[in-house]
Amino acid sequence: MLLKRTALLILAAVLTTATLSAQTPRKHLLLDEGWKFHLGHAADATKDFNFTIANLFSKAGKAGGTAVGPKFDDQAWTGITLPHDWAIALPFENSDNADVMGHGYKPVGGLYPQNSIGWYRKTFVIMPADSGKRVSIQFDGVFRDCQVWLNGFYLGRNESGYVGFEYDITDYIQFRQENVLVVRVDASQYEGWFYEGAGIYRHVWLNQYENLHVASNGVFFQSTVAGRDATIAVQTSVMNDGLAAGQGSVLTYITDRNGKVLVQAAEKPVALAGRSTAVVQQELTIKDARLWSLEDPYLYKVVSVVKQDGHIVDQVRRRLGVRTVTIEAATGLSLNGKRIKIQGVNCHQDHAGVGSAQPDYLHYYRIRRLQELGVNAYRTSHHAPTPELLDACDSLGMLVLDEARLLSSSAEYQDQFRRLIERDRNHPSVFLWSIGNEEGYAQTNSFGKRIALSMLALQHQLDPTRTSTYAADLGNVFPGVNEVIPIRGFNYREKHVVAYHQDHPEQPIVGTEMGSTVTTRGIYAVDSVKGYVPDQDITAPWWASTAEAWWPLAAENDWFMGGFVWTGFDYRGEPTPFQWPNISSHFGIMDVCGFPKNIYYYYQSWWTDKDVLHISPHWNWKGQEGKNIDVWVNSNADQVELFLNGKSLGKKAMPRNRHLQWSVPYRAGTLSAVGTKHGRTIRTQVQTTDAPDVIELSTERTIVLADGRDAAVINVTVKDKRGREVPDAGNLVRFRVQGDARIIGVGNGDPSSHEADQCAPGAWQRSLFNGKCQVIIQSGKTAGAIRLDATSDGLRPAVATIQATATK
Ligand code: GAL
Repeated sequence: MLLKRTALLILAAVLTTATLSAQTPRKHLLLDEGWKFHLGHAADATKDFNFTIANLFSKAGKAGGTAVGPKFDDQAWTGITLPHDWAIALPFENSDNADVMGHGYKPVGGLYPQNSIGWYRKTFVIMPADSGKRVSIQFDGVFRDCQVWLNGFYLGRNESGYVGFEYDITDYIQFRQENVLVVRVDASQYEGWFYEGAGIYRHVWLNQYENLHVASNGVFFQSTVAGRDATIAVQTSVMNDGLAAGQGSVLTYITDRNGKVLVQAAEKPVALAGRSTAVVQQELTIKDARLWSLEDPYLYKVVSVVKQDGHIVDQVRRRLGVRTVTIEAATGLSLNGKRIKIQGVNCHQDHAGVGSAQPDYLHYYRIRRLQELGVNAYRTSHHAPTPELLDACDSLGMLVLDEARLLSSSAEYQDQFRRLIERDRNHPSVFLWSIGNEEGYAQTNSFGKRIALSMLALQHQLDPTRTSTYAADLGNVFPGVNEVIPIRGFNYREKHVVAYHQDHPEQPIVGTEMGSTVTTRGIYAVDSVKGYVPDQDITAPWWASTAEAWWPLAAENDWFMGGFVWTGFDYRGEPTPFQWPNISSHFGIMDVCGFPKNIYYYYQSWWTDKDVLHISPHWNWKGQEGKNIDVWVNSNADQVELFLNGKSLGKKAMPRNRHLQWSVPYRAGTLSAVGTKHGRTIRTQVQTTDAPDVIELSTERTIVLADGRDAAVINVTVKDKRGREVPDAGNLVRFRVQGDARIIGVGNGDPSSHEADQCAPGAWQRSLFNGKCQVIIQSGKTAGAIRLDATSDGLRPAVATIQATATK
């Protein structure tokens, strides 16, 4: 009882102090902490807290003794913090079911009723001072099909595993007492054919606002650039949730990045009947506008204020990037009038250690890794992305192709598409919508054409500033979706792109899925038992191609907008071309941790103007002396000379958008390359190393916020006595964290590893895979030093120290 009271007071403090802005009664509070979790059962009501046999829906507020009820005792449930993906912690399980394989051999889905229902409970307190306000609960993403109750009252059901939703809970709140929020998640059905995770894997928010307020996702701005100035048409939806009529006014202003007001629109009055919405249009001009671009992703802020009787009753801030996007059939994509070839990647929302439950920082981490490689565009395959991913793309300067889960014009999917567009249309990074991917039953017939027309009409109505593509796994085929889609998307089949362009010269073409070489980081022979493919640009499935088969075509033709490689990172599931024990894909330019494979340097050579000179494989081939080794050099130098132990193996000119190759009889020592680029010399080398001697930890961050959410990725390698990284090491490394932080996941990029990504407290460990592994830590709320110790039998240990700093 005492414990409960303390928890209640702490929660009360949290919910009353954290406000979005001192000037507005609106609150937007993170509700990620203090959840309780338990698996239910999809086929056995007694193991599902009697859910299906309790006749819950016969009376409002009826809990029927199930876990829905506020009085249910959840003390034995596991305490968790969101985001949470319960699938990631399950053991791998072999199965000959294609969907189980596609989902990474995690025992979730219809075949595993015991693992496919997740129950979540969370209590929170609202103080009486907040009565009279509207309160809503906002879920950014739950996989999938969830039902939600507050204090036993049913709020609703959301089927999509990817599109967020919000419920007004005002009528069900009790003040000063615990409010009990319950979510039953049913992941029995899949939505895709790749790893999707399970549970409340994105943030949950508690929103509070006055009766007269800006509607959720209720601000939409459209920019027009003329000369040096930009006119921003701002549309604000104002809602009166009260029963009585209300009057107020809307005031909109734009600030620069630092909050300095640049321009303010004349205040507009609004008069609203009870329970109604009005839309207010305003126009503001930014003089000498600083445009959002990939090199300078400058963000203004649009502030929308609602006033009533002279007081501010609501205020919402949104980031604004002013830019123009044009897409022409002959010349492709232009951003602010500058032509841009799409150097894109497809990505699923899956990372080593954490699966789909990614801390916000990880989105930034991944986008930065992609940018270092030269990626300028990201396709959210095949569903609505996490909001924080789009924030990262806005901030860092990455274009986004934002995709609907399904090609469908049914009420359910139109609603999902509407929510996706309304949520994402203010992001400057989003340059194009995708209405679907490879819909084999509809894409070439009149169903597909009619559905596409309906989706395009909705897209245009909600967002006239952009257009759409559709990812078709079709060659030179026109009937169906392709007939009506404004931008033809090609999934693979690059051999047919020229013919299609000749037949349809007026239709712009983008490669929605291109390339797709399968490679396993640091592996140089096919191993069908373990499920490994060589780490060179040589193996592609029948429907796909190597990097060198598609990129030159895109690079050399102005009408080809460029494309999105399948994929930027490996992801769980789709272990093509293998099956068990292989549990994750090999398509990535980087592995599931974000460690580069050799193909990385091909793309980096031609996608950046950095000096790239990279030799593969490594040079540890003990026992293979005298055998010929295929040596690849990826570079953007004009010519490259290769040397073994100082002896030249010949000089070669580097063909544009290709690579160089030598066959070299193995002898231990140093393989070095000297390139000349625009008259300058660039060098690199690989050396035969000795055995591992010491662990090395590296991280891009030495400071994190002590906010209980921030995270750091720490990469682990081992070095020999001479300080050289050992590329084929497989040592088991143990981790211990001290200070207010916790380890939330480990990984190593081995697509056939069945080691746990999540370990018991105090027992964190991971083997290196070809010399590397990764550990992800999350801060607590106490400022101070966080120390990560890494130890391994026979190796000298390493320590990483990260400072957690207090938040404001
Ligand atoms: C495509 C599909 C992707 C992925 C890929 C694997 O056909 O759109 O989601 O499955 O194949 O090669």
